[in-house]
Amino acid sequence: MSAEPVATAPEKGPRHVALIMDGNGRWAQRRGLPRAVGHREGVQALRRTIKAAPELGVECLTVFGFSTENWSRPADEVSDLMGLVRAFVGSDLNRLDAAGVRVKVLGRRKGLPSDIAAIVERAEAQTAGNDKFLLQVAFNYGGRADLVDAAQRLVDRARAGEDVVVDEEMLGTGLSTAGSPPVDLIVRTSGEQRLSNFLLWEAAYAEMVFQEILWPDYGAEALAEAIAQFGQRERRYGGREAVTAPYGEAVS
Ligand code: IPE
Ligand code: IPE
Ligand code: MG
Repeated sequence: MSAEPVATAPEKGPRHVALIMDGNGRWAQRRGLPRAVGHREGVQALRRTIKAAPELGVECLTVFGFSTENWSRPADEVSDLMGLVRAFVGSDLNRLDAAGVRVKVLGRRKGLPSDIAAIVERAEAQTAGNDKFLLQVAFNYGGRADLVDAAQRLVDRARAGEDVVVDEEMLGTGLSTAGSPPVDLIVRTSGEQRLSNFLLWEAAYAEMVFQEILWPDYGAEALAEAIAQFGQRERRYGGREAVTAPYGEAVS
């Protein structure tokens, strides 16, 4: 994993890519395999994608691992998904740390099994000083829940006596994505074209790319293809001209 984008990185590529990793179940079903195998293969796809992202000039990757609505799945599937977090952190955390990756977990801690909450804390604490790449894993995450929590934080601060002004900047500081670069590109795999409660606030001016590929088949090639599509887009942020710099801060 390198700190600097490689020379072949698109000049105006996305800094922050968010991925809705969808299609594990269908991938397995098509092969007559249990869904758990699809989820396991999905972790391999995640490894490939994390490796490819900085090579394609991406600085931050946010991946949707488990939504606040995914608790409605059968208990054995929920437990398989929790098991994968344990396995992924166990096997990959030291390697990610050594590569300078900072890991952040977005979403509510409350409601997670206590050992998963502890694993999440450990992953964040161990990598807190890293700055070569930011990996945000949305787990027990819902965009609505995140907005509710951000609003609650403002209420708490106001109740504590602070002079709180409710504006976009202030609300944004209470979101779990606070501090990460603006989301440039949201990708969803498996052909579905919806957000499913992912990054509702952050999606405001993100470009969206929908790919047919099922998540367990994902990797460098598919990510490069999504980034190439992003490169064809004109971002106007409500104005009349395309904004040449791809990031929100260039807009006047
Ligand atoms: C995505 O794959 C992984 C999670 C939602 C955790 P799915 O399990 O949603 O796979 P499909 O959509 O049923 O194929
Ligand atoms: C979104 O996928 C959540 C994750 C990828 C973790 P879902 O498969 O849960 O979304 P729906 O149910 O198809 O909208
Ligand atoms: Mg799905």
